[in-house]
Amino acid sequence: MTGDDEVLRALEGSIDRPSAARVYDYFLGGTNHYAIDREFAEMVLAKLPKFGDSARTCRQFLGRAVRYCALAGIRQFVDIGSGLPTQGNVHEVADAARPEEDTRVVYIDNEPIALAHSKVLLADTADPHRHRAIAGDLLQAPDLWQRVLETGVIDEREPVGLVINAVLHFIGDDQEPGKALEFYRDRLAPGSMLVLSHVTMQNPVDSAEREGMEEVAAYYERTTNPGRGRTSEEFARFFGDWVLEEPGLVYAPAWHPDAGTISSGHPERTRILAGVARKPRPST
Ligand SMILES: C[S@@+](CC[C@H](N)C(=O)[O-])C[C@H]1O[C@@H](n2cnc3c(N)ncnc32)[C@H](O)[C@@H]1O
Repeated sequence: MTGDDEVLRALEGSIDRPSAARVYDYFLGGTNHYAIDREFAEMVLAKLPKFGDSARTCRQFLGRAVRYCALAGIRQFVDIGSGLPTQGNVHEVADAARPEEDTRVVYIDNEPIALAHSKVLLADTADPHRHRAIAGDLLQAPDLWQRVLETGVIDEREPVGLVINAVLHFIGDDQEPGKALEFYRDRLAPGSMLVLSHVTMQNPVDSAEREGMEEVAAYYERTTNPGRGRTSEEFARFFGDWVLEEPGLVYAPAWHPDAGTISSGHPERTRILAGVARKPRPST
């Protein structure tokens, strides 16, 4: 099978069901979605009217966290499950944080439409020496990492900002996301930073919200990315022994909020957990 056949096959498999990337794009106010995605998103909003705010919260956290890492000295980012390009893509945030515009970024997604749009965005706005978009599956960690290194954009001897934002809730325990995360944590240089956010279904405010969340989780079973919420404790394991930056693992709007942060008055209502951790340097 040629590369083109592979892409066509993946496309066929991706447009007869809603896709997480395109539904998320709809929630963010983007334009890269199909009727099947919009109908699905509206069904979700009918059950959980605040779900759109949760998507915007994830995206806002991504921006604040990438800026934080760039200001803390990270000069290269790997963004796994990068989704459809929208406002505030990692390379744009990093370049805005560093006037020297010397930060390198590799975007990876396993959704063919997201990947195609990322390539178009990069062709229009990016620097081919510093920015690249490639196909890869988070769960095929050694293969994905090999592809990242083959771009020549990332130097694995230097610290990396590994961003896996709003992705892990689409991966069930049976697919062992913890193992993949362990691979990346082992592989990255000391001083690297890990940016994660995740949906949680813990502590619903009332039985209506609990039922709404269960129904939405059942809806997602019909998409190309069925998923699940995790508790704070389950989420914390993805960071391994890396050290959480202040304020630790919190609901996303409480992570270094700025003037534009939505839901900062009630961070827990977004149901998005978030954190940034750093790989410790070996003690001498
Ligand atoms: C909700 S979007 C998040 C997009 C982006 N990270 C952000 O925060 O705005 C989730 C993305 O994860 C991608 N994804 C899901 N499972 C994946 C996997 N196993 N490997 C790579 N990408 C994956 C989906 O295709 C989708 O683009």
